[in-house]
Amino acid sequence: MTPASTDLPAPLKALVGRADDALARVLPGEQLPPAELHRAMRYAVLGGGKRLRPLFVYAAGHALGCDGPILDAPACAVEIIHAYSLVHDDLPAMDDDALRRGRPTCHIVFGEAMAILAGDALQALAFDILASAPGDDDPRQRIAMLRALGAACGAEGMAGGQAFDLAAVGRKLSLDELERMHAYKTGALIRASVRLGALAAGCRDDAMLDRLDRYAHAVGLAFQVRDDILDVEGESAVIGKTAGKDAAADKPTFPSILGLDASRERLTALVDEALDAVGPLGERGEWLAELARYSARRGH
Ligand code: IPE
Ligand code: IPE
Ligand code: MG
Ligand code: MG
Ligand code: MG
Repeated sequence: MTPASTDLPAPLKALVGRADDALARVLPGEQLPPAELHRAMRYAVLGGGKRLRPLFVYAAGHALGCDGPILDAPACAVEIIHAYSLVHDDLPAMDDDALRRGRPTCHIVFGEAMAILAGDALQALAFDILASAPGDDDPRQRIAMLRALGAACGAEGMAGGQAFDLAAVGRKLSLDELERMHAYKTGALIRASVRLGALAAGCRDDAMLDRLDRYAHAVGLAFQVRDDILDVEGESAVIGKTAGKDAAADKPTFPSILGLDASRERLTALVDEALDAVGPLGERGEWLAELARYSARRGH
């Protein structure tokens, strides 16, 4: 069990284990050539991480009455994209970080070239998993899922957000610019996780998809606000990455623009917005509600 899961209610904790098992199955074996690349890929994905994006997939599926194995492929796909984004985020050309999930970063262990390739191969693997997983045989649904994932990690999503992030170093952003950057770099993949869970569960109801998207937009932003606060308040040993890096690298963040108190207020407002969106789902939305609260209180 990953340490963070101790903060989650039992059914969600169990799903962390389910995601870990599914990920270990879909990643290429370490003995297969090119073994060094496969080792780097497995290192980047396995052995740590809160698995929150898979949990969003499972919780969205659950909210729509689906808990079956059909959710495992999208759960793996979003986590593998996330792991790839972290490998590249930590590279010397980007955040130049040596610590991730309490261990040396992928490029420290395997070298920069192999870390770049591991990221590339993980990204491709995520789409392969989503395209080839067993599912219902509606090709429109599968294409909708592939498009949602593609949009979330491309120039209008995570990669675009990372470009905003690099361009923002040393600059003073307005709150709107900061929120846009966060919505792209972190929010987009969290929104895709919720959407993929709903689509895999067979949801064709646009009003429901919009409601879930409103939830995911607020949680995605809350998640990165908490990340920014933890960079200021957290200790490296607890957060598993080097604390204080944002200020050292002169990155605009919620605390640097609003201060810590107003950042916490914004966090509370975002969680309320998320809870409001899934409130009408009642008990079946409880996992999503719990993940919104967890995103704001998490200690790492
Ligand atoms: C860290 O994400 C990077 C951000 C997008 C803020 P997580 O906090 O989900 O990292 P892991 O997966 O648990 O290591
Ligand atoms: C990372 O944001 C977002 C992505 C990897 C897309 P950060 O740079 O703030 O994440 P950490 O703090 O290194 O985990
Ligand atoms: Mg970064
Ligand atoms: Mg970083
Ligand atoms: Mg950060």
